[in-house]
Amino acid sequence: MTIEIAQMYKSFGRTEVLRGIDLTVANGELVALLGPSGSGKTTLLKIIAGLDWPDRGGLAFDGQDWLQLSPQDRRIGFVFQNYALFPQMTVRDNIAFGLTVRPRGERPAKAQIASRVNELLGFLQIDALGDRYPAQLSGGQRQRVALGRALAIEPTVLLLDEPFGALDAAVRRDLRRWLRGVHDAMGTTTIFVTHDQEEAFELADRVVVMNHGRIEQIGNAATIHDAPATPFIADFMGATIHLPVAVREGRIGGAGIDAAHLPTADLPNGPAQLFVRPEDLLPIPDPSGPWSVSSVTNTGSQLRLILSDASGTEIPADLRRRSPGAQGLTPGVRVHLRPEAGSVFPAETV
Ligand SMILES: Nc1ncnc2c1ncn2[C@@H]1O[C@H](COP(=O)(O)OP(=O)(O)OP(=O)(O)O)[C@@H](O)[C@H]1O
Ligand SMILES: [Mg+2]
Repeated sequence: MTIEIAQMYKSFGRTEVLRGIDLTVANGELVALLGPSGSGKTTLLKIIAGLDWPDRGGLAFDGQDWLQLSPQDRRIGFVFQNYALFPQMTVRDNIAFGLTVRPRGERPAKAQIASRVNELLGFLQIDALGDRYPAQLSGGQRQRVALGRALAIEPTVLLLDEPFGALDAAVRRDLRRWLRGVHDAMGTTTIFVTHDQEEAFELADRVVVMNHGRIEQIGNAATIHDAPATPFIADFMGATIHLPVAVREGRIGGAGIDAAHLPTADLPNGPAQLFVRPEDLLPIPDPSGPWSVSSVTNTGSQLRLILSDASGTEIPADLRRRSPGAQGLTPGVRVHLRPEAGSVFPAETV
């Protein structure tokens, strides 16, 4: 089932929360929405679910206008971050809930509901938990039950808003693999919201990065990591060192910066900013270099250097401790910088 969102806008009072969202999610696709807090991710999910309405814009599902449909008629499966299961109901009854509250004419028979719940318990690998109450489950088990409840109604679309947000890193990794398996077996079109870049890239077919109510880039791990479309994305993906440079005839130069080898993607001549990750910044010993090593911290496999210049600007550089270049980089040594990778944006766009 294809979801088409076109030129969607939404404000709360004076706050513009969605500012022209265009997004098509293909049938059976698993898309991750990634973005900082307040960027509009939950608002977008709520509008898709019919729990809120846009000020303008379109929402169509297989060509049908969904803004005309009630939430019930859209048949969405929704899992929230801290999904409240009904505490007084067993796991089995929690999963069955969406089916038991259907109007009489559409409600499956008791035996049918029971067999559907059994099927889901097996499928979600929580067979043994059917008769427990939510208080008797771990956080990860509760999220599996929450997903079971969302899937019981055979949703047209599954919306997951940071479903693993409250869990620790190891459990999240397990659940991520499990969810990908569930998705591949069910084939339900799914939108998954997360703050966690690794989670987004590992889980999703495509990652949509939002910022301030706009989509800044859509892509996979490699494109977003290596070819960030905007300064925001570069920074968000860890390229937090910003060096002033100049572009001349397709080459990048700057005081104490050896970056002529970096691609410039047809940038115009003029002042620019080079965005680099600390692990991509190689300090090269150079008695006339403008930077000097002011501290070195050993974190085991890595060395973190702090480099400073005459004006007191400090930047970090991370090296593998055993790398050949690391030996000579001791406090006081002067260096120039060789970025191994980075993105350049014209100064006026930064
Ligand atoms: N009902 C509401 N009334 C007023 N403002 C709201 C309402 N719901 C959301 N907002 C505002 O809209 C903006 C976007 O909120 P939203 O919950 O969509 O962000 P988000 O990307 O999901 O953030 P997070 O990652 O923190 O969950 C925020 O500035 C929020 O304060
Ligand atoms: Mg949110």
